[in-house]
Amino acid sequence: MSKTTAVPARVSQGSTSPIPDMAAWRKAWMDATDNPNQFWLEATQEHVAWETAPTQGLDGDYDSVGEAPFKWFADGTLNLTVSCLDRHLADRGDKVAILWEADEPGEGRSITYRELHAEVCQAANALSALGVGKGDRVIVYMGMVPEAAVAMLACARLGAVHSIVFGGFSAEALRDRIVDCGAKCVITQDIGLRGGRKIRLKAVADEAMAGQDVDHCLVVRRTGDDVGWTQGRDVWWHDVVSAASTEHDAVIVDAEHPLFILYTSGSTGTPKGLVHTTGGYLTWTTWTTRVTFDLREDDVYACVADVGWITGHSYIVYGPLSNGATSLMFESTPLYPDAGRYWDMVERHKITVFYTAPTAIRALAACGDEFVTKYDRSSLRVLGTVGEPINPGAWHWYFDVVGDKHCTIVDTWWQTETGGHCITPIAPATPTKAGAASFPLPGILPQLVDANGRQLVGPAQGLLCLLHPWPGQARTVWGDHERYVDTYFSMFPGKYFTGDGARRDEDGYYWITGRVDDVINVSGHRMGTAEFEAALISGDAISEAAVVGYPHEIKGQGVYAYVVLAGGFTDGDLLKDLNGLCRRVIGAHARIDTVQVVPGLPKTRSGKVMRRILRKVAEGRAGELGDVSTLADPTVVESIIAGAKSG
Ligand code: PRX
Repeated sequence: MSKTTAVPARVSQGSTSPIPDMAAWRKAWMDATDNPNQFWLEATQEHVAWETAPTQGLDGDYDSVGEAPFKWFADGTLNLTVSCLDRHLADRGDKVAILWEADEPGEGRSITYRELHAEVCQAANALSALGVGKGDRVIVYMGMVPEAAVAMLACARLGAVHSIVFGGFSAEALRDRIVDCGAKCVITQDIGLRGGRKIRLKAVADEAMAGQDVDHCLVVRRTGDDVGWTQGRDVWWHDVVSAASTEHDAVIVDAEHPLFILYTSGSTGTPKGLVHTTGGYLTWTTWTTRVTFDLREDDVYACVADVGWITGHSYIVYGPLSNGATSLMFESTPLYPDAGRYWDMVERHKITVFYTAPTAIRALAACGDEFVTKYDRSSLRVLGTVGEPINPGAWHWYFDVVGDKHCTIVDTWWQTETGGHCITPIAPATPTKAGAASFPLPGILPQLVDANGRQLVGPAQGLLCLLHPWPGQARTVWGDHERYVDTYFSMFPGKYFTGDGARRDEDGYYWITGRVDDVINVSGHRMGTAEFEAALISGDAISEAAVVGYPHEIKGQGVYAYVVLAGGFTDGDLLKDLNGLCRRVIGAHARIDTVQVVPGLPKTRSGKVMRRILRKVAEGRAGELGDVSTLADPTVVESIIAGAKSG
């Protein structure tokens, strides 16, 4: 293993971080490990506005998770929006809470904390009048407009449980989620705008809601285009929200009251609805936003993710607002109108903390440095990445060109399941290495194990497990706690198995190597191979399908599909047809890059598809197949190799 030199910690002038240097990190990590209850009770009381402050830390653990979800701060009560809004009114009422950059450069609006508080109260009153109350589920199917954040906060104000469905998902995928969580209300908008293109959100929502038991659909007007309308069910946002009172008494809930459900893909079956609860999640997102980014009062903080994913929940809305920060919401794409859009925004808004995904960094690096260097980026202090491993080339471009070698790069490793950052450099304290997620935050106890669950010590590569619950961890899968236990705790009992592989180097830095299960990560979108396969065989043309990921220069991973044609079908415009199918069943972001027609799939005698073989062939490493003697029909492999396409 080669030794990589770390970039020394940046200058920490002006920092008021609770973890200003590595000595402080070491102490905090040890304190949180030795006495987690005391550490997190103190942290939550400092960072969160409780109605009744909790006296209990963790209740339950990974050994008893099969009997019941563990809890944090169980005797505390609160309403999350008090932390995100009300408590800022006295000192930050006129500070910008949401800085909205619309699709067209320079368009958008600024919303102060006072205005946001008023709008959230109005939306809560409007939802309440539509019959939404504590515990009810509300689906949010929107683009990146401020009303999406208002909708989330309004649900939280009522104790209703929101579930955001990314605006790229298809009607079928949206319907599945409406049904799974039993949503009584859907919030959407007429049309979404992205990169100058129109996305027919209301029309898709209409198709998804058809025949379902949704009481109301609240519709934000973004473009004014004509949309279908179901009398009695559909209601315009501007009719009911603007007319409602700007005062609303926040509904106080228990710490473990569910805050939201977010569906995410796993290695098997349909996406599962992970449940995050109120007190612990808020503690974790507030604290990690503050610590990882060394967040400061005068920061202009920009996370350019989408609220449809966990990054948008934790690091556009809840974490930044709870800290009283100015948080940018971005409606467009990094390439609209050209590859300079991010840096144009940095110059115009004087952004200090910028957070994006490696896939965007790679795509922009390929467009040339001039798109970056023509803008003034001197305001930048911290640059974050999330969603997939960042290759050293992209890391260096981000560091050298975007950050002019004066910013700290925080490569934050975490997951929908973890609620917030887990393994990450802390700005400006951690000396960084290009491509390393580096060290665990306090409360995170990583362990590398081999396939048999044996602990690996010292420098090693293995499967990444975490040994102890932290406040932000998802508690269960909506309606299916058994699935939660099976997915995360059955492989290595007593440990949370992340699904990721990782390497620990001689300095103790963690390098995430990627998923070791059947989850693929395309352009930062997490998708299950099982979902693709289900989509492919839902048409008539394909009788069997197996989908694997392979390394892709820009997207991180590409999607390679092996398909067996049904009788009578030929390989005409197959890729186009199959992508049409994926788009209809999953969504516009689910695209296959390469399709190969095969006579059969390589299966063991018991009928299990040997994906290891398919992965190697897709990666162009057919020479390393190893033992194929357990296959029912080894000749299938020969024809697969012969017909392999370069991905
Ligand atoms: O494989 C890891 C990868 O993204 C997965 C989680 O995806 P999702 O739940 O959609 O959440 C993405 C946003 C947190 C992980 O299992 N991943 C996330 N961050 C990193 C990463 N891989 C390497 N380095 C990261 N910084």
